[in-house]
Amino acid sequence: MSDGVWAAPGRVNLIGEHTDYNDGFVMPFALPHTTVATVARRDDGVLRLHSADVAGDPVELRVDDLAPAARSGDWTDYPAGVVWALRWGGLAVGGADIHYESTVPTGAGLSSSAAIEVVTALALNDLYALGMDSRDIARMCRRAENVYVGAPTGIMDQMASACCAWGHALHLDTRDLAMRQIPFDLTAHGLELLVVDTRVKHAHSEGAYGKRRAGCEAGAAALGVDALRDVPFDGLDDALARLDDPEVRALVRHIVTENHRVERVIAHLEAGEVRAIGPVLTEGHASLRDDFRVSCPELDLVVDTALTAGALGARMTGGGFGGSAIVLVESSSEHLVTKAVQEAFAARTLDEPRVFTAVPSAGARRVS
Ligand code: GLA
Repeated sequence: MSDGVWAAPGRVNLIGEHTDYNDGFVMPFALPHTTVATVARRDDGVLRLHSADVAGDPVELRVDDLAPAARSGDWTDYPAGVVWALRWGGLAVGGADIHYESTVPTGAGLSSSAAIEVVTALALNDLYALGMDSRDIARMCRRAENVYVGAPTGIMDQMASACCAWGHALHLDTRDLAMRQIPFDLTAHGLELLVVDTRVKHAHSEGAYGKRRAGCEAGAAALGVDALRDVPFDGLDDALARLDDPEVRALVRHIVTENHRVERVIAHLEAGEVRAIGPVLTEGHASLRDDFRVSCPELDLVVDTALTAGALGARMTGGGFGGSAIVLVESSSEHLVTKAVQEAFAARTLDEPRVFTAVPSAGARRVS
């Protein structure tokens, strides 16, 4: 017997990459792919976790024993970390039986981990009447990810999964979590946004993410600001002139120009100039590739091939070093662009990338 069913989506980020741990702006939207949790409350302090997508028996943990030092290194750390974070936050959460089933591709940079975290927190919020709003849920899930799982991420993915709305992209200020839902209906403009999952995940990605983050913090310290968000776009040249380290300078340039690109994309969307976002996305890719240095040959191949085949814009999305790219195309050229990318991968004997059209979908919700 279950007490209910909840769902939380994965996401793609339209623009605003690596800005979220610099107090900057991001603009993700939710995918139709979700993690669904069927949950029953239990009052014996046992957390019983099972996934339809992972072979093996259910895992049983005692909520009193949960601690970052006791993490297992497998998928159960995400939900266990959420329960730990809620209890760390002083919330009275007991046990639960949770069965997960997910359509969010894993290892593709589409936030499958945020989806499982958020669906867990949302279900427990309802079942234990914890009174959290969607921002509280995202904050708790980020804490689970940072402290329990041990990944030094920002809050974009958890906010996207918890707060996105159907038909919209989420303009989020990661400093104060102010949000604006921006209508994002590409079909009405004869456009599509393709997600191309390269199926590549380069091994050094986690350490490299932490290094970029440390480099950004060093840049902020050298410039005497709390976070790189505080460097205005029209003050960029002055700021760069004050930095000695060329690597830090490049990181700062990416963050400041990327925050500006988020504003430019919003201005274009609000003016109804949807095609005009294409070149801004492509600029973002060049900045991630050359300044922030988080792209990889497979992502660059998607972007270059798609643009040559007539795409309006393309860039990597998410943390980088593999994972997915997004490609903005006229609906009429979707087949041509997809085929060109698939052929380019085949010609290099790379695994066939997974390509699908991303439709801005609903955020986390109770299903039944
Ligand atoms: C990962 C992290 C996010 C964000 C992106 C890059 O998805 O989880 O917090 O930093 O990378 O924009």
